[in-house]
Amino acid sequence: MEIGIEERYANAHIPKCVPFDIKVDVEKCTKCKRCVLNCPGGIYWDEEKEMPRLGGYGLMEKVSLACNACLAACPSGALEYVGEYRVLEGRYKTTLQDVGLVPPNPFGDETPRPYDEIEEKLTDVEKVIYTRRANRIYQNKPLPKELINRILEAGRFAPSSGNGQPWKFIVVTDKNLIKEIDTECIKFLSIFRWLYLGSRGISGKDTPWRKALVPLLSYTMPGDMDQRPMGALGKAIDLYKETGDLHFDAPCVIYILNDVRGIASPELDTGICAQNMVLAAHALGLGTCYVGFGTVPFEFLSGLNKKLGIEYPWRMSTSIAVGYPKGKIDKAVPRGVPPVKWIE
Ligand SMILES: Cc1cc2nc3c(=O)[nH]c(=O)nc-3n(C[C@H](O)[C@H](O)[C@H](O)COP(=O)(O)O)c2cc1C
Ligand code: SF4
Repeated sequence: MEIGIEERYANAHIPKCVPFDIKVDVEKCTKCKRCVLNCPGGIYWDEEKEMPRLGGYGLMEKVSLACNACLAACPSGALEYVGEYRVLEGRYKTTLQDVGLVPPNPFGDETPRPYDEIEEKLTDVEKVIYTRRANRIYQNKPLPKELINRILEAGRFAPSSGNGQPWKFIVVTDKNLIKEIDTECIKFLSIFRWLYLGSRGISGKDTPWRKALVPLLSYTMPGDMDQRPMGALGKAIDLYKETGDLHFDAPCVIYILNDVRGIASPELDTGICAQNMVLAAHALGLGTCYVGFGTVPFEFLSGLNKKLGIEYPWRMSTSIAVGYPKGKIDKAVPRGVPPVKWIE
């Protein structure tokens, strides 16, 4: 799927998507709200109907990451997706294949089998890869240092360009400090939310200057002007209002920094390093969640860097919330299918 020149900057602000929703089996739903708690953006609690609903604010009514976080967290199998999140035209046209969400299919079956049927044929590494889910519900229980060390060691042995190992880790278990940092982050990110949606957008009306501004901003910050992170930001702001943090009250946050002088592509190296840690944590029975909202503002606010003692040559890359999951979340879920070009 290519995106032609003429549509690269068209429909950038709140593009229309194909109808997508969740279906709730009211007989099975116990009203535990775990789906709402684990969802990074899109699932809210409907007070009137007393059940979850998909829907954000005003103009962003049905925006979703479609990540299956709600389904993974639901203990009673009460949720189902209807359709998939898909934008048909414009700047943010979906490039995934138009085949819907498909479960892990490593054996290339014509009709993919349920995960339970293929699991015993998988290696241990594959099992961790397929069942790892972002975890946003944690037990209020400290993580022993020995376990944190096992995670850091998995990161240390990641591959890196020229074996440069351009990373540094800051481990924070002081929840007050995490809250302090997240408070600064949310203040900063709220400006972006206002630029994108504003109070008129939240109440369902568009503003001409905003419709013009967002395509312009999408030149310089294409990923940030996608409506999905903007929808997720709305949910993060709500979460912050309730809990005072963006890291889900996890007992430990690992900040990963990269050396700006790193060989070739230090950002890529730290991404690989972080994922080693995340997979190791899940293999140990822990839960993790990357929290970009808690680190993006470091790029702009020097005060935040000072709080963690970050100085040249270090730059914030990402953060990972880690802890004991509360209830089961890790499980295999269906995903979109990327375009694959075989050249043989
Ligand atoms: C770099 C990065 C940043 C992320 N930032 C956030 C975040 O700020 N808040 C959040 O709830 N989830 C965040 N996530 C988690 C994604 O939403 C999640 O990985 C995605 O929806 C896929 O779901 P899965 O991890 O369960 O497979 C982030 C993930 C990555 C890789
Ligand atoms: S997680 Fe499942 S059971 Fe709990 S409120 Fe959501 S749909 Fe209902």
